Amino acid sequence: MCMDESDGGAVGLGVVPARSSARQQARPPLNFRQSDGDLTTWSVRILKKDDWALLRDVRIRALDTSSDSLAGDLATVSRLKEDQWRDQIRRREWFVVLSAGQPIAVAALNKSALTDPGECSVINEPHAHIESIWVEPKFRNKRIAHTLVTAAKEEVRRDFKKCSLIGLWVFENNKRGADTFRSMGFERSAPHCQEYRGESRRERRRPPRLEYHMHLPLEGTIGGASRINWDS
Ligand SMILES: CC(C)(COP(=O)(O)OP(=O)(O)OC[C@H]1O[C@@H](n2cnc3c(N)ncnc32)[C@H](O)[C@@H]1OP(=O)(O)O)[C@@H](O)C(=O)NCCC(=O)NCCS
Repeated sequence: MCMDESDGGAVGLGVVPARSSARQQARPPLNFRQSDGDLTTWSVRILKKDDWALLRDVRIRALDTSSDSLAGDLATVSRLKEDQWRDQIRRREWFVVLSAGQPIAVAALNKSALTDPGECSVINEPHAHIESIWVEPKFRNKRIAHTLVTAAKEEVRRDFKKCSLIGLWVFENNKRGADTFRSMGFERSAPHCQEYRGESRRERRRPPRLEYHMHLPLEGTIGGASRINWDS
């Protein structure tokens, strides 16, 4: 759950439209049809360092709407400077879902426990963690979180062929989040919780929150989710 967001300088709260960039993901966007027959086009973008403003906007929106479910602190994140956002992109793989040019969902892939399994206090084998997963409230229950998890799984499978599972941390009181991950095939890794205290000074001033670890075997299927088709 750790986000490593140090306190920084002021950044505006306004959400700006996604900018097109020649340095966007090399893969074509993901398009798919909703089950109700509506044609809704979403594209999943893997952020490059010049996409830092897009990451800033979606993270601020996420913490503004879902601070109880997410690690991080809105005031702290709102003050991060450009170089700190670029650093966030260097440290993790970020997936952002765009609809009509606007960011509507985000997830991060933290690979530190792949190279250093001791990083994870629950599962001592190489695995990546999904962090900061969030979907804009009016777009929920359209399987966008499933899509983000599928994108993260495919990234891990491609780059780390020996990795057999993917993990995440969920706050104990986040029933909807846990139910969503269960519907994808995640299971709780251990009965115990650990205290999440936060990375920034402001977050550490909050009462500590309890979190537990869930994992998904990579060879399993995600409950009914279609594989990502990177064809345009
Ligand atoms: C959790 C979150 C990311 C899910 O995003 P989403 O795009 O709505 O999720 P999806 O549409 O892909 O999947 C929802 C699934 O969970 C199931 N689900 C959701 N709430 C449920 C509940 N209370 N009981 C049982 N199943 C539930 C749905 O039935 C659906 O499964 P299905 O498609 O197999 O029927 C979103 O609710 C969110 O952003 N929450 C706030 C931030 C957060 O909690 N992040 C997780 C941090 S660990």
